[in-house]
Amino acid sequence: MKARVKSSASSSRAVFPAASPPPAAERAGAPGVFSLLAEHAHEQVSLFFEPSSGYRGIIAIHDTTLGPALGGTRFWSYPSDAEALIDALRLSKAMTYKAAVAGLNLGGGKSVIIGDNRTTRREAIFRAHGRHIESLGGRYITAEDVGTSTQDMEFIRVETQHVTGLLGKSGDPSPVTAYGVYRGIKACAKLRWGSDSLTGKTVAVQGCGHVGYFLCKLLFEEGVKLIVTDIDPQRVKAVVQDFRATAVQPDDIYKQAADIFAPCAMGAIVNDDTIPQLTVAVVAGAANNQLAEERHGDVLAGRGILYAPDYVINGGGLINVNAELHGWSLERARNKAGEIYDTILRVFEIANEEGIPSYQAADRLAEQRVAAIAKVKKSFV
Ligand SMILES: NC(=O)c1ccc[n+]([C@@H]2O[C@H](COP(=O)([O-])OP(=O)(O)OC[C@H]3O[C@@H](n4cnc5c(N)ncnc54)[C@H](O)[C@@H]3O)[C@@H](O)[C@H]2O)c1
Repeated sequence: MKARVKSSASSSRAVFPAASPPPAAERAGAPGVFSLLAEHAHEQVSLFFEPSSGYRGIIAIHDTTLGPALGGTRFWSYPSDAEALIDALRLSKAMTYKAAVAGLNLGGGKSVIIGDNRTTRREAIFRAHGRHIESLGGRYITAEDVGTSTQDMEFIRVETQHVTGLLGKSGDPSPVTAYGVYRGIKACAKLRWGSDSLTGKTVAVQGCGHVGYFLCKLLFEEGVKLIVTDIDPQRVKAVVQDFRATAVQPDDIYKQAADIFAPCAMGAIVNDDTIPQLTVAVVAGAANNQLAEERHGDVLAGRGILYAPDYVINGGGLINVNAELHGWSLERARNKAGEIYDTILRVFEIANEEGIPSYQAADRLAEQRVAAIAKVKKSFV
C-alpha cells in the first residue's frame, strides 16, 4: 500500500465549497488535506454539507484494491473538523488491513458525521448521509459504528443500497466475533504449548459484554477456568452463574495468575502500567486497539508474551457484515471466522521469519495480500 502513495494521492478527490479559503491550520503550516491523504495513501475523501438538516459528513476511502471500501459510520461531536477528518482517515486505513487479513474481498473505508449523536433529527441526517454514500456509486459501503443504530441504517437504506446492518439481517455480530477470538486463542495455545487444547488452562477475561459472554461460553465448554471482570455487576453475575467463573475487581484483572489474558472491553489496555502486572503467556482478545502505543507490542514480544494482533483475531465482526452483503448462512460466516486460527499462525510465522513483533507481522500480511491483488489487476488492464 505504501507503493501507491504517489499515484493515489494525485488521484484523490476531495469535495470542498468552491470559494472557501484554505483552513487556518493549513495557512499556519500544519499538514494540508492532500498531505494527510498522501501520508497513508488514501484514495479519496469526500465531504458533504447539507444545510437544512445540519448534516456534515466525511467519507474516507483508503484502498479499494480488494473490493469496495467497507466501514461503519461514526457519529461524534469532534472538537474540530480536522480531528474528524483525521479519525476518518485513521479508521478507514485500519479497515483495509482488517479486511485484507480476514481474506475478504473488501477495501477499507469509514465515515464520520460531525455532531451530537443524541439528536432526534435522525431521519434527515441519515438520509443526507445515504445520499452522500450513493454519490460514490458503490465505492463505499457503510455499517453501524459508535453513535449509530440499526434504525439509522434503515434511514440510509432509503437513499442507497450500499449499507449493511439492517433490521432483520445479519444481526448481532458478537457470536461470530467470539468464535473467531476463541479460534485465535487456540492457535496461540498451539504455538505456546504445542497443543491447541485449552482444557485446564486459566483465562482472564476483561469485559463480559456481548463478545465476552459468548467467548466465556466457548472457553467454559472446553474446560477452561475463567477469571472475569466487568464494571457492570450484572454482566459479571451472568458469567459467574452460567460458566462458574471467578469474579475480580476491574483493576485486578491484569495481575491474575492466568495462562491467557483476553481483553474484551476497551482499547489501550496494554500499556506501561499494565504490562508489568501481566504474568500470562498470551494476550488474545476481542477489544479494538489494545496496544496503547505500537511500542507496547514490542515490549510484549520482548517479554516473550504472545500477542494476537487485535484486528486479526476480532475479524469475525467484519466477516459477519460480509456475510450479510453476500447472503451467507451463519454457518458459512462461522467457518470463515474459524480460519482466524490459520491466520494467527501465519502472523506468528512471519514474525518469526522476519524477527519482528506480531503487530508488524499482521500489517505485513495485509500489505502482501493487497500488493499481490494489485499486481494481478494491473496485469489484465
Ligand atoms: N461486537 C463485536 O462483534 C466486535 C467486533 C470486533 C471488535 N469488538 C470489540 O470488542 C470489544 C467488546 O465488544 P462488545 O460488543 O462485547 O462490547 P460491549 O459493550 O457489549 O461489552 C464491553 C463490556 O466491557 C465492559 N467494560 C467497560 N470498561 C471496562 C473496564 N474498565 N473494566 C472491565 N470491563 C469494562 C462493559 O461494561 C461491557 O460489559 C470492544 O472493544 C469492541 O470494539 C467487538
